[in-house]
Amino acid sequence: MAAREVEHRPIGVFDSGVGGLSVLQALQAELPHERFVYVGDQGHAPYGERDDAHVLARSRAITDYLLLHHSIKALVVACNTATAAAIWHLRAAYPTLPMVGVEPALKPAATQTRTGVVAVMATRGTLQSDKFKGLLSGLAGTTQFRLQACDGLADAIERNDVERIQALCVTYTQALGPFGTADGQADVLVLGCTHYPWIDPLLESLVGAAIPRIDAGAPVAKQTRRVLQDHGLSASTDTHASPLFTPLASKSVGVHDASPATMTTCASTLFCSTGDPSALQNAVKRWLHCNVEVTPISV
Ligand code: DGL
Repeated sequence: MAAREVEHRPIGVFDSGVGGLSVLQALQAELPHERFVYVGDQGHAPYGERDDAHVLARSRAITDYLLLHHSIKALVVACNTATAAAIWHLRAAYPTLPMVGVEPALKPAATQTRTGVVAVMATRGTLQSDKFKGLLSGLAGTTQFRLQACDGLADAIERNDVERIQALCVTYTQALGPFGTADGQADVLVLGCTHYPWIDPLLESLVGAAIPRIDAGAPVAKQTRRVLQDHGLSASTDTHASPLFTPLASKSVGVHDASPATMTTCASTLFCSTGDPSALQNAVKRWLHCNVEVTPISV
């Protein structure tokens, strides 16, 4: 394939639903010349309380779809649970496809903590995975990690069920506490699920503004840049990404008006959902501040 063609192929990004938009946002900021195809697997979500076989089969099916229908040049698994359950399999099944996954930011948290106590919120699937246990055992000597499996939280965020989100966050942060800068208190909170950055203001209000909340969006975006460069797959930087999709700029579909800057960002991404497209459409409007059409897909 000619180099010019390679440059213009999009990067595939997927999550069980709207959570991976937090990674997509970081990718769009880090790589403004790239195009993306985002798949929210909302017809088969949440992943966090399902068995590995389900998550693995879904990850495989979505990767096949992205390769077959969009000729992606690289894949970002924008989901901690899918990375933990399936990235080893995906790497073996698609050895020539450059791939980046996401894992809870334990290492940066261990570097930042002064009390030596770090709290971690993640899905049950992530915390029970061998991948996570390996990551933890490499760091556990120096730092104490308090782990909380947040059953139901990704699902509540997916449904934008504000009352349930509030109730679950109160329960889970209390279970992880106390937070603070004194001995024995957790002074860093790791957001180990890509859905959780979207509720950061609530978490900040519960644990205190002095407690940094760390997610992996920005490091994943930087790693994606490195991987593209290593494979000679970076898009040309002399032009902005050509649109994959035309945002609904002229139509008024609701709460947020898209600014020209965010419209350009959204125009470089095609959004697809295996479930109700309006849930993803609303999340893109709410968080990325632009109006897009979401393509329903059957995968
Ligand atoms: N956003 C996903 C993660 O980072 C999964 C949430 C879910 O489907 O349970 O783990």
